[in-house]
Amino acid sequence: MIPFNQPTITELEERYLVDALHHSRLAGDGAYTMRVYRQMEELFGIRNVLLTTSGTTALEMAALLIDLAPGDEVIVPSFTFSSTVNAFLLRGAKPVFCDIRPDTLNMDESLIEGLISPRTRAIYCVDYAGVPCEMDEIGRIARDHGLFVIEDAAQAMGSTYKGRYAGTLSEFGCFSFHETKNYVMGEGGAIVLDQEKYMERAEIIREKGTNRRQMLDGLTDKYTWHDIGSSFLPSDLLAALLCAQLERYDEIMAKRRAVWDAYHQRLRPLEEAGKLRRAMVPEHVVHNGHMYNIVLPSEAVRSRLVAELKARGTLAFICYVPLHSAPMGRRLGWRAEDCPITEDYGGRALRLPLYADMTLEQVEQVVDQLTEIL
Ligand SMILES: Cc1ncc(COP(=O)(O)O)c(C=O)c1O
Repeated sequence: MIPFNQPTITELEERYLVDALHHSRLAGDGAYTMRVYRQMEELFGIRNVLLTTSGTTALEMAALLIDLAPGDEVIVPSFTFSSTVNAFLLRGAKPVFCDIRPDTLNMDESLIEGLISPRTRAIYCVDYAGVPCEMDEIGRIARDHGLFVIEDAAQAMGSTYKGRYAGTLSEFGCFSFHETKNYVMGEGGAIVLDQEKYMERAEIIREKGTNRRQMLDGLTDKYTWHDIGSSFLPSDLLAALLCAQLERYDEIMAKRRAVWDAYHQRLRPLEEAGKLRRAMVPEHVVHNGHMYNIVLPSEAVRSRLVAELKARGTLAFICYVPLHSAPMGRRLGWRAEDCPITEDYGGRALRLPLYADMTLEQVEQVVDQLTEIL
C-alpha cells in the first residue's frame, strides 16, 4: 500500500513532545512556541509571526485584522480549499472568483483588474502546490487600487519567488502545519505580518480579544477585553512537534524534493507520449516539494486512473474540487462557466503520493502503475 501522505516522525519529535509535557506549558505561548519563532526568523527572516490553531484560523485572523465587513468583496481563486473563502465569508464579505492559469494552476493575475469593483477590499491568493503566485504583479495591482493582499501559503513553507520566501510576499502570509503539510504539528498554522504595526492587535485577536499577552509580558498587571477575537493560539505541546520538524527543515526539504525530482524525471516519457502533463514550476520559483500534480487528458481518464491505482494499492488524490461550482459556490450564485479554466483543469488534475520518507522504489512503483494503466 502506498499512502497519499505520511508525516515523518522521529525520536526528536517524541523527545520534544515529552519534554513539553513535563517542562513547558500545556496552553499556548510556552517555550517551544518561542523557539519556533526564533527558527522562523533564522530560516526565513520572518520577525512578526504568531502560531495559530490551523491554517484556516490564520486566514480568519487576516480577515479580522483588515476589518472585512458585510458587502465587501474579496478576489480569490476558486481552485483552493474551502478555508481560503470561509475565512472572509465568516465576516460577511463576498468572494469574487478569479480563474486560474493553465500552467501553475495559480490565480491568473491578468484577470484580477477586470474583477475589481468599488467594493473590492482584498485579494486572497493561494500558492497552489507550494508554488507562489505572480506576487509582483498582484502587489502592483493591490497598490494601484488600494487593496490588501493575503497570501495563503498553507502549502508553501520554504518555497521562494524571485529569491523571497513564500508567506512573506504580501502584508499577511498564512501557513498550515496540518499533518498533510511539509512541516507538521498535527493541526496548526501561523500568520506572518509584514508590518510590526499589526502585531499588537493580532495578539489581542488571537487571545479571545484580550490583552493577556501584554500581561504575560509584564506590561500590565491585569488583562481585559479590548477587541473582537477568538481562541487562536495552539498548545505548546503542538509547538514542540513543530519545533522538532523545523530543526529537521533541511532534511525534510531535501527528501521531498528528491521524491518530486524522481517523479518529474520518470514521468517524462508519459508526457512525451501525450498521456499526461507534468507539474509546471516557473523559473523564478524554487518550490518546496510539497506536491506532485499531473494533468490528465480528461476527467474520465482521471476517474479511471484513481480507481485503478487504488486497486493496485496506491492512493492518489483529487486535490481541489473547484469552489465556485461546488454546492456552496452555486448557492452564492456562481455557475460552472464563470471560471472555465478552473472547471477544466480542476476536473483533470491529480495529486500523486508524496511524503518525505517515500522511497525511490515506491516512486518507480507508482510510475510503473501509471504507465501500465495509461
Ligand atoms: C490552500 C489551503 N489553504 C488553507 C488550508 C487550511 O489549512 P488547515 O488545514 O491547517 O486549516 C489548506 C489545507 O489543507 C490549504 O490547502
